[in-house]
Amino acid sequence: MARKKIALIGAGNIGGTLAHLAAQKELGDVVLFDIAEGVPQGKALDLLQCGPVEGFDVNVTGSNDYKDIAGADVIIVTAGVPRKPGMSRDDLLGINLKVMKAVGEGIKANAPDAFVICITNPLDAMVWALREFSGLPHNKVVGMAGVLDSARFSTFLAQEFGVSVRDVTSFVLGGHGDTMVPVASYSTVKGIPVPDLIKMGRSTQERIDAIIKRTAGGGGEIVGMLGTSAFYAPAASAISMAEAYLGDQKRILPCAAFVEGKYGIDGLYVGVPVVIGSDGVEEVIEIALDDAAKAGLKVSIDAVEELVAACKGIDGSLA
Ligand code: APR
Repeated sequence: MARKKIALIGAGNIGGTLAHLAAQKELGDVVLFDIAEGVPQGKALDLLQCGPVEGFDVNVTGSNDYKDIAGADVIIVTAGVPRKPGMSRDDLLGINLKVMKAVGEGIKANAPDAFVICITNPLDAMVWALREFSGLPHNKVVGMAGVLDSARFSTFLAQEFGVSVRDVTSFVLGGHGDTMVPVASYSTVKGIPVPDLIKMGRSTQERIDAIIKRTAGGGGEIVGMLGTSAFYAPAASAISMAEAYLGDQKRILPCAAFVEGKYGIDGLYVGVPVVIGSDGVEEVIEIALDDAAKAGLKVSIDAVEELVAACKGIDGSLA
């Protein structure tokens, strides 16, 4: 069987981290693509030279030509500009929409059978636009947000309860923005729901509310310290989605997926739990939500709808 091919569109902070992880895990040969000349080639050569030290044996190449992504099995898109302190994800819309157009057309022409994971922000609108521009089936284009948001939620919950992150499962719904909805009732420590842990006196509602707020602002917290957006955890999150697809793992992961007819949503990309296997997004799982989570999700959906409308306003071909 031929080796798998992983194409990474955008060779910046996240792209470089993705390439390192994909090579270390030997997911396949890696192609780093970027419009900046020299950057993908230089990073690729540097990464290739990690192979003898780290013991991986895949090819890593860099390119400025979309032809080199031909036949990719998985494509992860980080092309665009990241946030600077004081910017919201939505502030990136105009610039990154143009980037999604170029990337979508490049994918359409060269790798229409790939499973595409979008990371570029504002995520829910950009993954929608990328799908429109690429023309790929909705189940083959998905956004990475929920895996990262729930990883942040789990990190803070593990710290709060003084337990291993391995024993924490957490749940985040909605758009990848300040309106995301971390759901405490579906978040557990070794199966014990967070509300029960509060009743057991292991935390308080106030402390959990503060953690939920910190999770929703988790990206901004890092931008404030770093001066640019996070890259280690976003890359690790997208790699777990790629592994679920390549290994037909049927993993249930929160992703920005195309939802039609579930959660009262009529054709929109939004963060929901999905099954990822060899058919891409194989199922959107609809779970029962309490009134507060429903209301939170509605606010989040409205925010995503506004961004999609803004995209249509900027680029007439999307209307
Ligand atoms: N085609 C290909 N690559 C592009 C294009 C384009 N049209 N426009 C910009 N790029 C490249 C840049 O040259 C840069 O190398 O995208 C890369 C982005 O890298 P960084 O600036 O380091 O940004 P990064 O931290 O990787 O984040 C990328 O992911 O999480 C989101 O908000 C974040 O939208 C941002 C994206």
